Amino acid sequence: MGRRVLRSAILLVFCASALAFKEHEFKKCAQTSFCSRNRNVQQGANFEIVPASIVLNTATLTATLINQPASKHLQLTVASHADGFVRVQVDESPSVGRYQVPTDVLISGWENKKQPFTETGRTSSKLTLATGEDTKVELTFQPFTLAIMVKGQPALLVNSRNLFNFEHRRTKQDNDPAGYWEETWQGHTDSKPKGPEAMSLDLVFPGFQHVYGIPERATALSLKATNGAAPYGEPYRLYNLDVFEYLDDHPFGLYGSIPVMLAHKKGLTVGVFWLNAAEMFVDVVKSRSEVGTQWIAESGIVDLFVFTGGSAPGVLASYAKVAGTTALPQLFSLGYHQCRWNYKDEADVKAVDGGFDSHEIPYDVLWLDIEHTNGKRYLTWDSSLFPSPVAMQEDLASRGRQMVTIVDPHVKRDHSYYIFAEAEQQGHYVKNKNNNDFDGWCWPGSSSYLDVTSPVVREWWAAQFTVDKYKGSTKHLYIWNDMNEPSVFNGPEITMPKDNLHFGGVEHRDNHNLYGVYYHMGTAEGLKLRGSQLDPENGDRPFVLSRAFFSGTQRVGPIWTGDNAAQWSHLKVSVPMLLTLGLTGLPNSGADVGGFFGNPDAELMTRWYQLGIYYPFFRGHAHLETQRREPWLFGPDHTARIRAAIRGRYALMPYIYTLFRFANTTGMPILRPLWFEFPEAEDLFAVEEEFMVGPGMLVKPITAPGVSSTDVILPAGARWYDAATGAAVTAKNRHRVQVTMDAIPVYYRGGHIVPRRERPRRSTAAQASDPYTLVVALDDKSEASGSLYVDDGHSFAFQRGLYLHRSFSFSNLKLTSSVHVEPGVPDGTLTVPTTIERVVFLGLPPSRRGYKALIGGKRSEPLEAGPLSMVAAPGSEHALVLRKPDLPVSHDWVIEIVTA
Ligand code: NOJ
Repeated sequence: MGRRVLRSAILLVFCASALAFKEHEFKKCAQTSFCSRNRNVQQGANFEIVPASIVLNTATLTATLINQPASKHLQLTVASHADGFVRVQVDESPSVGRYQVPTDVLISGWENKKQPFTETGRTSSKLTLATGEDTKVELTFQPFTLAIMVKGQPALLVNSRNLFNFEHRRTKQDNDPAGYWEETWQGHTDSKPKGPEAMSLDLVFPGFQHVYGIPERATALSLKATNGAAPYGEPYRLYNLDVFEYLDDHPFGLYGSIPVMLAHKKGLTVGVFWLNAAEMFVDVVKSRSEVGTQWIAESGIVDLFVFTGGSAPGVLASYAKVAGTTALPQLFSLGYHQCRWNYKDEADVKAVDGGFDSHEIPYDVLWLDIEHTNGKRYLTWDSSLFPSPVAMQEDLASRGRQMVTIVDPHVKRDHSYYIFAEAEQQGHYVKNKNNNDFDGWCWPGSSSYLDVTSPVVREWWAAQFTVDKYKGSTKHLYIWNDMNEPSVFNGPEITMPKDNLHFGGVEHRDNHNLYGVYYHMGTAEGLKLRGSQLDPENGDRPFVLSRAFFSGTQRVGPIWTGDNAAQWSHLKVSVPMLLTLGLTGLPNSGADVGGFFGNPDAELMTRWYQLGIYYPFFRGHAHLETQRREPWLFGPDHTARIRAAIRGRYALMPYIYTLFRFANTTGMPILRPLWFEFPEAEDLFAVEEEFMVGPGMLVKPITAPGVSSTDVILPAGARWYDAATGAAVTAKNRHRVQVTMDAIPVYYRGGHIVPRRERPRRSTAAQASDPYTLVVALDDKSEASGSLYVDDGHSFAFQRGLYLHRSFSFSNLKLTSSVHVEPGVPDGTLTVPTTIERVVFLGLPPSRRGYKALIGGKRSEPLEAGPLSMVAAPGSEHALVLRKPDLPVSHDWVIEIVTA
């Protein structure tokens, strides 16, 4: 009883303070010494290249940069890499020992694959180099500028506005300006033992109007200028923070950071990645002729990757060569997740699970938030509420479902808690500036934080997840990592002091933005370890959701966009937020369906599900103080709509999983802005009200109440079919469509084949042997293509070739199934006993006599007008349906369409 009261009191303190975005708790550029010192310094630091210092060694150029007035000497390195990028580094002498992001954040293998430079011109003021097929680098000596040309067009100018600055390490002087060696913010003093060490980087994209990227923030897809009206008079900030009740349409940085930006114009996309994990600010200034950006980082070095592939897929493929691709997720994790802070006890879990079955709504995972633990001691259970966790998980698993529990990085300082005691004894905690274990306040009260930047600590942490160590866990239990920015309730800006110390004596200032990804990695390694113990041959793919992230998180697991609100504006902004994550290599992401804070009404909830089924990671979640909102609590009509939406997600699972395979092998996003698929259509470059799911589907969410009609842009140059009815849309480009509460507008794009599974089931596991439907949407040439990827959905056996990837193509009235060859991976050797049970053709030219299909050159079956989907509404008969081809999905075959 006493414990309950205390718990509620603590919750109240934090929840009450959580009910509005407290902008004043967070620093702006002008309140941050390094940012205000460097932002728009009128005359930069006038760096020059010393011509005599230039050394060109095959693919690497080195030179000395000097700054005359201050006599600074810096080392410039420009290297050309075979994977489609140029790397530009600026550092002091290596003996200074400035922080560099450790190599394990990225992947290895690319460093030594270089592409030689050819010197194509040199004068006393300039040097020009060519590399690869289409890239040129031009260095001007005085002042130092670097221009990169791609396909004969200027793509990026470094320091053309002379805003480059580099604060060298120095010894303290009596007359040093305030903020150099100490800075105080709301009672927190940062001791800054190394003094000032910031950098400013001036990157201009000539001829461009649109830049994208640098998540995470709730703002537009095409980034707005930061010299505008409030709040866009502030630069974008990259500093992982726990921001309660964040506002939408705001440049403020949220829980994760990816310092990647893409610029796109007709005919050219270029990407940049500044590998730096310190706090960063980015200004965007637009003119008619260019987008100018200024990047300011507090510490580290300049380590800029410029991706020169020329197109958005090319840029993302090159970025993936450095930072890695999306981990192939467990199939179950692409189903629907039901979460709430909190499902209270085992009876609650049983009732919610049963509710899905009695309302015939599929779902895959039930989540437990922090209250399931014994006093926020993660990896333990509150035994009065959850006396039999193993039986509970096994019960869920008997219906093909999984459970997720939350595990946060703060460790309750309690010597009777085994995790705390062992980690303390082994010295695994982050230290404060005095080298004692850091003690900060979070959910359990006084807490220490695992120093997951150390590989030894990550290994120890991973070992905690085996079923024998994590008592009450089973192989059906997966993990949610929250609060890993890290969140420290009594720390500066709700995080850790920058002068805290990590493994190797690294200051938190240097690696702040890495804490989340390292924690996520350690946890995922734990689940891998557990999986390899349970199945040494094939293992089990980890599923760990994280809130904080950095470049590389895509290799570890999904993220979600944190504490949004049950408001229409938050529903709307989730689209550009997720599109931005896809464009920066982290497509496996989602927003809390329904909105975390507040109570959505039935209309908002229904619209949110109708959009949420397209989120790569699809989870409903709600704050502790909200009303219950399981999908059947909004009245029978809305329950029916939500059921139809979630079933629609399950029907699309083969397509979504296949898109994930491409994300895994090539770095392609799942959700894509329209311009990604239609890169020449300038009027689409800022469109964020609708989006593509892979190359073959377009979705227009409804993001306002009371909508009965909406404008849809269907890009020219493609044929489009209403995905509910199969009807071809004859209107061109922007057109107005009627909408009801039953669905949002969704379209198939001509030229694409989308695989589906249409039988309503209770979970992804229950779909495992179901046959497939192919939707063949024809383009103007009556052609279409697509593919289907299948594997066991959970193990690593696919890495040994135990997968099936089929290619489907329709041309000359023949639908052909053949092996989809994937470059760079072992050939697929899996066969599955499943069949194609239906083929739905959209857009076959009219034929008075009708059509029939010759299947495998033998059988002949009629093509009949019918509903596009087995679950479609009556009257939606615009498709020509081949009813029972019953062709094995693993084999080559041909279906020929002939007139009847
Ligand atoms: C903050 C997370 O963002 C939210 O999703 C979670 O419910 C609470 N922490 C409690 O764990």
